[in-house]
Amino acid sequence: DMGGHDTYMHKEISEQADAVDRVLRGRIDDRFSTVHLGGLNLDARAARGIRRVKILGCGTSYHAGLIGAGLIESLARVPADSEPASEFRYRNPVVDPDTLYIAVSQSGETYDVLAAVQELKRKGARVLGVVNVVGSAIARETDGGVYVHAGPEVCVVSTKCFTNTVVAFALLALHLGRIRDLSVADGKRIIEGLRRLPAQISEILESEDEIRKLADEYADAKSMMFIGRVRGYPVALEASLKLKEISYIHAEAYPASELKHGPLALIEPALPTVAIVPDDELLEKNRAALEEIKARSGRILAVAHQEQERADHTILVPKNEDELDPILMGIPLQLFAYHTALALGRDIDKPRNLAKSVTVE
Ligand code: F6R
Repeated sequence: DMGGHDTYMHKEISEQADAVDRVLRGRIDDRFSTVHLGGLNLDARAARGIRRVKILGCGTSYHAGLIGAGLIESLARVPADSEPASEFRYRNPVVDPDTLYIAVSQSGETYDVLAAVQELKRKGARVLGVVNVVGSAIARETDGGVYVHAGPEVCVVSTKCFTNTVVAFALLALHLGRIRDLSVADGKRIIEGLRRLPAQISEILESEDEIRKLADEYADAKSMMFIGRVRGYPVALEASLKLKEISYIHAEAYPASELKHGPLALIEPALPTVAIVPDDELLEKNRAALEEIKARSGRILAVAHQEQERADHTILVPKNEDELDPILMGIPLQLFAYHTALALGRDIDKPRNLAKSVTVE
């Protein structure tokens, strides 16, 4: 049942304010400015002993893990990174007892992720899950974890589950942070930020008409570049994946800082750039990248907190806390990919060559 929407993807994009509300519900503890995660199965002593966090997932879940790793590093001050589970499994990784491993999966059935979990468990590692489907194989094989509570996702490409997974990581990062060195004041600041998300998501979804017009304008591109820095880079990666999957337009994502090391050679009017430009400590650096692109006559669509002079178009998003901004900045680009695919007449819910759940190698 699409509930009045033309596609499941549109329905699922539109449900995100409610979905985020669900992942937050019942978990916030205002008294201690932290969150309770019932199924985590990680006591405070164990949480303090973690020296490193390694996140494993595939596709969109890997991208959610990249943002998750950034959140864990900044809030809990533990070195963290995310890697495609498929790659991790085949490079005979050093498995370390002081590392917390986290498997991320919407379906909980992705073979490469499950196999990575089993290999880690066999070697005695502690593995948690950030999973959407309750009781799925990965949820069962892990030692504990955080359910994402996005509700069923039917469209082959992931949208609301991506957003909720990132919010679940924010909760986990806050929880670990408050056990370690995050102050009460910072805990409170993040909690207030989390509470603002649903209304801000609704606000973004209201600009759909404007985003549709922009998508119509850029749909003739044969290829697109997506750029961002640090927190914005995984947003660029995910937006680029979404565009490729449903519109079949070739897209690349690069850290804005890497442009001059190669990809700048591609920039010309026929290759538009989508730039993630949050109002944070990297704003001036991001503006300089726009300057470089403009000097090569590249078209620029910015997703930003304020109008970007160098951009041909700016999609404005509401500002949250710096750490939580990536959650919001991805949402208009889901709609952008959607309307680009629609303009090109693609089969949005069932893109060619793709399956919802990849249970084979
Ligand atoms: C992209 C997409 C895929 C999945 C990937 C992992 O829109 O949906 O990249 O994210 O196949 O699937 P899960 O999260 O079910 O393990």
